[in-house]
Amino acid sequence: MRAVLLKEFGDVDQLYIGETAAPELSEYSIRVKVVATALNRADTLQRKGFYPPPPGASTILGLEMAGDVIEVGDKVTKWNIGDRVLGLLAGGGYAEQVVIHEDIAMPMADDMSYTDAAAIPEVFLTAFQALNYLADIRPSEQILIHAGASGVGTAAIQLAKAMGASRVIITASKGKHQICRDLGADHTIDYANQDFQAEISKITEGKGVDVIIDFLAAAYFQKNINSLDFDGRMIMLALMGGVQLDNVNIANILRKRIRIIGSTLRARSLDYKKGLTKDFSDFAMKRFADGTLTPVIDSIYSWTEVREAHSYMEANKNKGKIILAID
Ligand SMILES: NC(=O)c1ccc[n+]([C@@H]2O[C@H](COP(=O)([O-])OP(=O)(O)OC[C@H]3O[C@@H](n4cnc5c(N)ncnc54)[C@H](OP(=O)(O)O)[C@@H]3O)[C@@H](O)[C@H]2O)c1
Repeated sequence: MRAVLLKEFGDVDQLYIGETAAPELSEYSIRVKVVATALNRADTLQRKGFYPPPPGASTILGLEMAGDVIEVGDKVTKWNIGDRVLGLLAGGGYAEQVVIHEDIAMPMADDMSYTDAAAIPEVFLTAFQALNYLADIRPSEQILIHAGASGVGTAAIQLAKAMGASRVIITASKGKHQICRDLGADHTIDYANQDFQAEISKITEGKGVDVIIDFLAAAYFQKNINSLDFDGRMIMLALMGGVQLDNVNIANILRKRIRIIGSTLRARSLDYKKGLTKDFSDFAMKRFADGTLTPVIDSIYSWTEVREAHSYMEANKNKGKIILAID
């Protein structure tokens, strides 16, 4: 099969489409002809050699896909050849074929396009995991989502609203505020020109928010813990703002009974991903069908333009997902 391969770790020029062995089918897996995949920040880090795939995963980039089932393992009961599926991958999505456990694949609605479907798995499962499993958000809670226009952010805004959050506040660069409002954000903060801690205090009348979805780590740590209410939870999903804390006052963690929870999705066990996929499907698929939830697509590139797509993401230009069509 053909796949996007790497000459060596480095910049976008290292990416090329070449021939490689197709993945092997196992008894509980299905082989999918990939029609569309999507970019994630992790792909850019893996390309540079900073984010190795977990043991046993494909070394090909790509954490999600949508496509057609073309072969089923001997013990597969859920799928038939020709079914249209989407699903999360530990790697391998930038390719003509993937093999995925039958319980990780989700059915595509009849009227859903492959490009829409490919925009769902990684960011919606990440956001669902963060809000439901980790933050355990309750209706009427207030939530702050950093990087609101990122892939994960755009999914989290919609899911938080669908889970009954009373107020969703996001930070993003100014040009990305409208899309966040269109998706349901009640307040938007331009982090470059506004102090988000002061804004949160104003918006919540000094109380603070119940949950923060964070990607900025060290850069926002102090202001995050100062922006949480009693029993607040901060879910750390990325380290985009650095890892080294300097001169941080942690008193509020104790005083306000704050919980700080870090998480990754890619390296979770198969059983965990099966459970997450099922819980997410039960919650979300009917909401995609009725329009409560919607995949947010910034742009669609042919996979022959994978270098341009990576550069575009690394310039922080996207609002929502960048799709690669495998044509
Ligand atoms: N832990 C997990 O389970 C998990 C799963 C999926 C993704 N992630 C992580 O979550 C993050 C978001 O992923 P994504 O694919 O949704 O990202 P994305 O669509 O590429 O969006 C990232 C956005 O973050 C904002 N940003 C703010 N500060 C930044 C900084 N210092 N450097 C770079 N960007 C900054 C930028 O928007 P503005 O213009 O608004 O600043 C940028 O467009 C990534 O770090 C990714 O690795 C974690």
